[in-house]
Amino acid sequence: MTDRLFDPLTLGALELPNRIVVSPMAQYSSEDDGKATDWHLMHYGNLAVSGAALVILEATAVLPEGRVSPRCLGIWDDTHVEGLKRIVDFAHRPNGAKMGIQLAHAGRKASVAPPWQGGDALLPGGGGWDIWGASDYPYPGRVTPIMPGEEELETIAKAYVDALRRAEQAGFDLIELHCAHGYFLNSFLSPLSNTRNDAWGGGLEGRMRYPLEIFRRLRAAWPQDRVLGVRISGTDWVEGGWTVEDSVVFARALKAEGCDYVALSSGGSSPDQKISVGPGYQVPLSAQVRREAGIATIAVGMLSDPKLANEVLVRGEADLIAIGRGMLFNPRWAWHACQTLEGTMRVPDQYFRCHPSMRNLPR
Ligand SMILES: Cc1cc2nc3c(=O)[nH]c(=O)nc-3n(C[C@H](O)[C@H](O)[C@H](O)COP(=O)(O)O)c2cc1C
Repeated sequence: MTDRLFDPLTLGALELPNRIVVSPMAQYSSEDDGKATDWHLMHYGNLAVSGAALVILEATAVLPEGRVSPRCLGIWDDTHVEGLKRIVDFAHRPNGAKMGIQLAHAGRKASVAPPWQGGDALLPGGGGWDIWGASDYPYPGRVTPIMPGEEELETIAKAYVDALRRAEQAGFDLIELHCAHGYFLNSFLSPLSNTRNDAWGGGLEGRMRYPLEIFRRLRAAWPQDRVLGVRISGTDWVEGGWTVEDSVVFARALKAEGCDYVALSSGGSSPDQKISVGPGYQVPLSAQVRREAGIATIAVGMLSDPKLANEVLVRGEADLIAIGRGMLFNPRWAWHACQTLEGTMRVPDQYFRCHPSMRNLPR
């Protein structure tokens, strides 16, 4: 049987009424050391009643130095739980969405200004902080990161697990480990950023070791039936960099450790990346990993045409479809997709009179 956009999916204990996911998108809107604000409540609250089955909160830093910008969301302190719980509690009202959170550490790409302030590197003393990478090899144009030794790797690993416990207190249904876009864990995977010659570097096995170690600890700390997935960059789009074949090997190893899904983004490790961007441009990465590693995948990237999003599922190239910018542009994307594809979905009781077609949908 083929899957379609408005078919339900059960993943672990998670029952999703359709295949639409709001992709994690940084809001750069914390005002007080990583705490969630009214912006986050309004933004995620709106998306939680958008008809998407699952909303994944933005990259949320497990340590203060793991923020991309000073305004990024954090989960390194117990005081972060309250603001996050407020969002999840709202989303869990009837006809709301399941809520995920992306646990992140920006590594050697941390400490920059928010995009609308130029996105330039911020130095210690100038609003920024010391940054960390897999190696002391900088992202071109940025300062040299500190290479963690055994003790520091242990501290960072513990920070991930502590963050997970806070996410559990806040009530999240799902955790996504951020291993993409050149950030800390991705910097271990990619040969473009991992130049270590100890057990945490070298060949593919050594480069996968630290991200797998983090995954293993999270899996052990998160209830076994609760969904734990990983977002990866399926390729660096650079010759000599991480490839989709490497992604298949990594996805197989993750699956063996109890990973529920892999989300296939790409790039971010090098400014030399050459990407042919277009509708569905990352879908082949999802298709290959799903086929060859036998794991559920989320496809993402310019999938805002509902017919294309549906076809990706029908062709068996992904299990879920994440929409990013399309959701910011049109938070009712799922309703429009439902009309286009003649699917069925639930809308909040408060909104059911908004359009004649909505009255026909089961509530
Ligand atoms: C404003 C914005 C913020 C983003 N922040 C994150 C993030 O926190 N974590 C992440 O993995 N990807 C992030 N992304 C990437 C998106 O999740 C998504 O993969 C990308 O936008 C491609 O999908 P789209 O074509 O549907 O927008 C961000 C994208 C945008 C536009």
